[in-house]
Amino acid sequence: MKTIGILTSGGDAPGMNAALRAVVRMGIFNGIRVMGIKQGFEGLIEGYIDDMTLPSVADIIHRGGTILKTARSEAFMTEEGLNKALNVLDVFNIDGLVVLGGDGSFKGAKSLSNAGIPTIGIPCTIDNDLAYTDYTIGFFTAVETVVEAISKIRDTSSSHGRANIIEVMGRHCGDIALYAGLAGGAESIIVPEMDYNIDKICEKAMVGRNRGKLHNLIILAEGVGDPFEIAKTIEAKTGIETRVTVLGYLQRGGTPTTIDRIYASLMGKRAVELLMDNKSNRVLGIKCNKIIDLDIEEALNMEKAFDVDMYKTADILSL
Ligand code: F6P
Repeated sequence: MKTIGILTSGGDAPGMNAALRAVVRMGIFNGIRVMGIKQGFEGLIEGYIDDMTLPSVADIIHRGGTILKTARSEAFMTEEGLNKALNVLDVFNIDGLVVLGGDGSFKGAKSLSNAGIPTIGIPCTIDNDLAYTDYTIGFFTAVETVVEAISKIRDTSSSHGRANIIEVMGRHCGDIALYAGLAGGAESIIVPEMDYNIDKICEKAMVGRNRGKLHNLIILAEGVGDPFEIAKTIEAKTGIETRVTVLGYLQRGGTPTTIDRIYASLMGKRAVELLMDNKSNRVLGIKCNKIIDLDIEEALNMEKAFDVDMYKTADILSL
């Protein structure tokens, strides 16, 4: 392994820079040339590639976003795009690749692996929607942002005696809503994995109000329903004024939490070790606080389990 390429792809996630730093520094420490590919697979096709040096990753461990920039590339998903990418890798003599991203990015990594390029994936997405790993890099930072927002909204919810719906990201995964809802003490959590009953939510709001609870916080995972429609329904059924906050891209930015930086650093180091051991087609993850690696295909075929027990616990503790 003489030259490693690295790219960040899909939605950015806090901690991507920390992982990049780890790959670059671990590579250079071991006498490997590391090349940064800009704008994900799109930049790979176009050949937007530069040498990474020790100073090029200085001062980034604490920065959100990705200094390599990112993109969602449709062109790369075509046979023509893949062939272009393979040509570019050949031109730059890149003989191993590290891909930082979520499941879409891992599909791209798999295509390159199948075409003979040793490729390692590092799970970076705020959604925590990959089944094979307990956590993805960026998830805890996003949850922290949401919990902070919940605490602030709780203040105003209490002052006005209102209900507040807070919509969070997650694509098809309810983990951000679940973890932030539990940590923020939300009264109700609506996620795609569980059926919800609007009457139960209304009942909880009214029972809470009747015993002196001033706030009512409802965390809604994106895509499950229109928050403004849900707010109207709650208002109509309970008479409690209900407001909506859509947190949106706020959740994708910000300085990564300690745990995201640690996982990112450990996985970045391990990615280089795997390539040095001639391993290919692997993705890294975290299981019971240990870094693991497994076959990309196997990882992508696993089905994510939702933590129903945690969901029920959050409901009981917010009575
Ligand atoms: O995958 C991360 C994520 O932020 C999801 O939570 C969200 O559904 C999606 O990306 C938004 O994507 P885009 O950046 O393309 O708007």
